[in-house]
Amino acid sequence: MGSSKSTTSLITGGAGFLGSHLADRLLAEGHRVIAVDNLTTGNLANLEHLAGNERFRFIKADVTEYLEIDEPLDFVFHFAAPSSPLDIHFIPALKAGALGTHNALGLAKLKKARFVLASSSDCYGDPLVQPQSEDYWGNVNPIGPCAVYDEAKRFAEAMTMAYHRFHHLDTAIARLFNTYGPRMPLRDGRPLSGFIAQALEGEPLVLPGNGEQSRCCCYVSDIIEGVFRLAHSRFHEPVNLGNPGEITLRRLAELILELSGSHSGIEIHPLPVDEPKLRQPDITRARKVLGWEPCVSLPEGLSKTFEAFRHGD
Ligand SMILES: NC(=O)c1ccc[n+]([C@@H]2O[C@H](COP(=O)([O-])OP(=O)(O)OC[C@H]3O[C@@H](n4cnc5c(N)ncnc54)[C@H](O)[C@@H]3O)[C@@H](O)[C@H]2O)c1
Repeated sequence: MGSSKSTTSLITGGAGFLGSHLADRLLAEGHRVIAVDNLTTGNLANLEHLAGNERFRFIKADVTEYLEIDEPLDFVFHFAAPSSPLDIHFIPALKAGALGTHNALGLAKLKKARFVLASSSDCYGDPLVQPQSEDYWGNVNPIGPCAVYDEAKRFAEAMTMAYHRFHHLDTAIARLFNTYGPRMPLRDGRPLSGFIAQALEGEPLVLPGNGEQSRCCCYVSDIIEGVFRLAHSRFHEPVNLGNPGEITLRRLAELILELSGSHSGIEIHPLPVDEPKLRQPDITRARKVLGWEPCVSLPEGLSKTFEAFRHGD
């Protein structure tokens, strides 16, 4: 899917994993991109290949503070959030979800731009239904250690819908599920990124609990295609974007050992508090509204990811 008119997009969190892939996609379509990032968990290396591109600009700034942009914008993609579940990011995650979303919405309102929120399956918390469709309201412990992520995204969604209803701002909400691929932050406290890092280093893979908890992992190019289609749609309600193919963490660890050629084995560790036991997107809405579904299989995506990390891409 392409778009004919050349537009300017601002991406908060543009130096991060998903933000930098989104920048690549928009630039490949002939658009202009402004990436804003404070480099908390992102990395300028993710944007190195864009140096010298006249349609690309990077601004180092914190989205929790007032953001002034001296040119017209067609889209504001709010992707900034320290996405890793490490405790040093607890308060910054809440601030990015609350103050950052407020500032990004204000900017979109000023520029009359379409606002696209990178929300998360964390809105569903530790879900009691499987799979999760967008009309499931979730099961979140508001004071547990995961609340900083879950509630930050829930607040960001509430604020986005308030701007849509009250200010008639053109908004979209992408509820992203677990995504992997080149440039993903490794060792960020999530099992999948840990497995990949450990396999690359030849270390044992650390399996939380008995490994029977399920995960659904979507390759980055599929997620970016979904976000791109959503941005160019007229849809305002949340849309799940993720790969419904379910796999247990134990099987995922075994698959990663097979594909990476690592013989390091698996080590069982205690299950973290409030760790979601089930997560599976119902993507009926994305199929219907965006004509979207993931097309990269897990073995194919993981092989591409290993190749990219081994080549330092
Ligand atoms: N990757 C996933 O599996 C996944 C799943 C669900 C939702 N998401 C959401 O997608 C978005 C992007 O995630 P990602 O995986 O690319 O993570 P990432 O950590 O690679 O990217 C986030 C970027 O935001 C930047 N950032 C953080 N706080 C900021 C602030 N106050 N001001 C400016 N920049 C700031 C970081 O430096 C980083 O570059 C996040 O909002 C995340 O919650 C990601």
